[in-house]
Amino acid sequence: MKTDILLGLQWGDEGKGKVVDVLAGQYDIVARFQGGPNAGHTLEIQGKKHVLHTIPSGIFREKVMNVIGNGVVIDPISFLEEVRGIEALGINICKNLILSKRAHLILPTHRLLDASSEAQKGKEKIGSTLKGISPAYMDKTGRNGLRIGDILEKDFSTKYATLAGKHLQMLSLAGYEFDKTVFTENEKKWMDCVAFIRTMQCIDTEYYLNDAIKAGKRILAEGAQGSLLDIDFGSYPFVTSSSTTCAGACIGLGIAPSTIGEVEGVFKAYCTRVGSGPFPTELLDDIGEKICQIGREFGSTTGRKRRCGWLDLPALKRAIMLNGVTKLDMMKIDVLNEFDEVKVCTHYIVDGKQTEQLPYNLSTEIKPVYKSFKGWGKLPESMEYAKMPAELKTYIKFVEDAVGVPITLLSVGPERSQTLIR
Ligand code: GDP
Ligand code: IMO
Ligand code: MG
Repeated sequence: MKTDILLGLQWGDEGKGKVVDVLAGQYDIVARFQGGPNAGHTLEIQGKKHVLHTIPSGIFREKVMNVIGNGVVIDPISFLEEVRGIEALGINICKNLILSKRAHLILPTHRLLDASSEAQKGKEKIGSTLKGISPAYMDKTGRNGLRIGDILEKDFSTKYATLAGKHLQMLSLAGYEFDKTVFTENEKKWMDCVAFIRTMQCIDTEYYLNDAIKAGKRILAEGAQGSLLDIDFGSYPFVTSSSTTCAGACIGLGIAPSTIGEVEGVFKAYCTRVGSGPFPTELLDDIGEKICQIGREFGSTTGRKRRCGWLDLPALKRAIMLNGVTKLDMMKIDVLNEFDEVKVCTHYIVDGKQTEQLPYNLSTEIKPVYKSFKGWGKLPESMEYAKMPAELKTYIKFVEDAVGVPITLLSVGPERSQTLIR
């Protein structure tokens, strides 16, 4: 069987967690391929909300095996908190969760380095989630990192001390002040959590996944963040530190491009962004505020207010191109119910010229040009497409025609059940 990929096409928080949970019942395995505890994937099942950071969103489906791939960075403290939260719901997580030995670890000092880097940048800060993501990936590509597999080796403590010692020196050189007592307590807690991870299934997941593909198992690869936060193709430097696009699934799981099936791209009926960086269609007015309030646009990981704006078609088309998206999921349609007018950016004006391409230099002024649509008002309770308001169908058809990919899933609320599959 081919592996399907599900990923975000905007600046993250598109609703990936919800869709993975909805679809997971059709798969044998859900595998996260990149990112770490910077992600916050929200699932609402029978009125109860769950936020996942490192654990794949298939965890609430009893028959689904969940894999944390080699492309993910794991913070043992945050990971164990998540495990405990899920165990408290009566789920035997150790049975249904596998970790790649090649996944890198986020050390307590990585978090400090993240904070130190952001402090040094001042006004130019990335707006990182301060989870230590960038320093952990820097150690990975710098060939200094510690991996899950290392915790199973005898010399782990020495390796840890060497890397943490190097980080402490870097922090001292940067003049970054932090509470040493709190740090020592954190280090101890971190080691205790590492000891717990040793008891879990830590394996060479690339063999597990490729064997599963050969055996005809159905796999869904779950992305974190979104294409506009991709390390290569996002709004650099205001991006995360991993490959959030389709190719990242091959790298982050150890599966070949020829094994990829559908690429399902998730996007909101509008746009949001949390953290710094350019956002061409951002609404800094009452409309943006209204979207934020109705959509409860506050970060699942940091609680920060998300910036809101209209749907940006040039950016969406680019993300579809980069990922080879074969089907689309339009999320949070209900949030726009109360709007008499809904707008979509069809192209930009850059340097006085009309274009559909995002300029390389994102500090250039990008003026969005909008097409206006009549709002659709209240949505019916029924999850039948035929019963959806004509205005919504017009909006959907316009987007589909513009991007050339069908919208096969519509989401009209946070609950698992508030989903329409066409
Ligand atoms: P992810 O990071 O892509 O998984 O998305 P997040 O969980 O960070 O953010 C999406 C938010 O929107 C969560 O609070 C979801 O519960 C919520 N959500 C998802 N789909 C819908 C929808 O169709 N309508 C509404 N109102 N909320 C939704
Ligand atoms: P999910 O998977 C939205 C943003 C941060 C910041 C930038 C870099 O829930 O969609 P980092 O901590 O990665 O160094 O931060 O990326 N960011 C996200 N924004 N959703 C996410 O994940 C994000 N993960 C990181 O706000 O601007
Ligand atoms: Mg999120």
